[in-house]
Amino acid sequence: MPHDLSLTKQPPLVLPPAFFPATTPTPYSRADFGPDFHWGAACAAYQVEGAWQQQGKGPSIWDEFTRRPKAIARGEHARVGTDFFTRYEQDLDLAQGLGLTDFRFSVAWARVLPEGTGAVNRRGLDFYDRLVDACLERDLRPWLTVYHWDLPLALQQRGGWANRAVVGWLADYAQVLARRLGDRVQHWMVLNEPMVFVGAGHLLGIHAPGRRSLPAFLAAAHHATLAQAEGGRALRAALPESARIGTTFSCSHLTPARPGHGPSEAATRRVDALLNRFFVEPTLGLGYPTAELPTLGWLLRRYHRPGDEALLKFDFDFWGVQNYTREVVRAAPWLPLLGAALVPAAKRGVPVTQMGWEVYPESLYQMVKQYAAYPGAPELIITESGAAFADELAGGRVPDAARRAYYQAAIGQVLRARRAGIRVNGYFPWSFTDNFEWAEGYRPRFGLVHVDYETQERTVKDSGRWYGEFLGGAEVNVAQEQALPTQP
Ligand code: FCB
Repeated sequence: MPHDLSLTKQPPLVLPPAFFPATTPTPYSRADFGPDFHWGAACAAYQVEGAWQQQGKGPSIWDEFTRRPKAIARGEHARVGTDFFTRYEQDLDLAQGLGLTDFRFSVAWARVLPEGTGAVNRRGLDFYDRLVDACLERDLRPWLTVYHWDLPLALQQRGGWANRAVVGWLADYAQVLARRLGDRVQHWMVLNEPMVFVGAGHLLGIHAPGRRSLPAFLAAAHHATLAQAEGGRALRAALPESARIGTTFSCSHLTPARPGHGPSEAATRRVDALLNRFFVEPTLGLGYPTAELPTLGWLLRRYHRPGDEALLKFDFDFWGVQNYTREVVRAAPWLPLLGAALVPAAKRGVPVTQMGWEVYPESLYQMVKQYAAYPGAPELIITESGAAFADELAGGRVPDAARRAYYQAAIGQVLRARRAGIRVNGYFPWSFTDNFEWAEGYRPRFGLVHVDYETQERTVKDSGRWYGEFLGGAEVNVAQEQALPTQP
């Protein structure tokens, strides 16, 4: 069966058809996207920087969470990460060498404000100053995420996202960054995937701060929605007019387990409201999608104050769309709030990545189509898209044919969307280098560039080389790709 993607163990491997959706425009090349399209790659502070205690940095909730027994696979942590803190120039050299035009990173809040509020750690802020300059020196436009999940521990001790004061803390922190870096950074993102840090961190307890509490989840959800808008306003007030201010959303195209079956379709609409619409619609002034989720709406009201509807709104210049897979939804009336459950890909007999996520590149097209359909939707940028596979480095090469095919399909779906008139103007593979994948530790490898965690040596994978060739003008021809045996 072609479902085993452990590339080097089963030669010759032929990728399953899921990697080559018939809807992929073919052939295609970079020129089809026009000259202004953003071609980047992404990373996030906690996943790469390391240097967790260096130069005045304060602890974050991830520094604390990774110390808890069993919180992270194999007891791993990111105290060293990929040592991006000292090796960023080398990584940016590689990015420049591949021909990227843009580079996305996040700032570690506790590096800049060790207590979360108050005194600025000058040396911490200097690091981001150097990082921004290093991007610009290499003609890489810096894309800065203000918050990618690493809340200062000091703020968690004051209630963290469950304390409404976080809205002001985040806004003040965003302005510290804007004042120092706003003369050079044009593209800003307030939050990374609020649904994930709110849900996984406060309800499921599998991410920092490791809470499993419905009230904490509801409070954090409302405060994060307020903070994304307030953060936008804080940035707007402190940045030059030309700045582009966005925020990012996780999303997955949803398919009912039993299409046409009423309860299955209704369950899918509820999951859509929670996973794909919840943080998006308030920014447009539509409020939370509570028609589908009346109980959640009722519970959330406890955290609302008069006037909040207006505060949830912000006119973002772009939305960052982050997509990895689709989900299949079934009705589960016995489950509270949602009455729905996801059918794991492993039970569906579909090809999966190392994360257990179905390979389904068309989800990207479906989601940008869904988001672009909102009246008043801003420009869309794919700020994350990618796949983890069990790579193996041999003889200076990583023959990651599956990832390369995944990117060819995903980028093809972006072109398909553009041809359908959807305003999607950038694509950032997740991730530039392999890195610390949160609760999963280092095992899932997402990079275009392989990292040997013993030596910190970088090796551009075949997918990275391909991305470079594509950016240099090489054509993607799906029929030819499909015919290739993928083993070197
Ligand atoms: C996203 C996160 C990112 C990375 C990828 C695989 O949800 O934003 O940090 O972990 O998933």
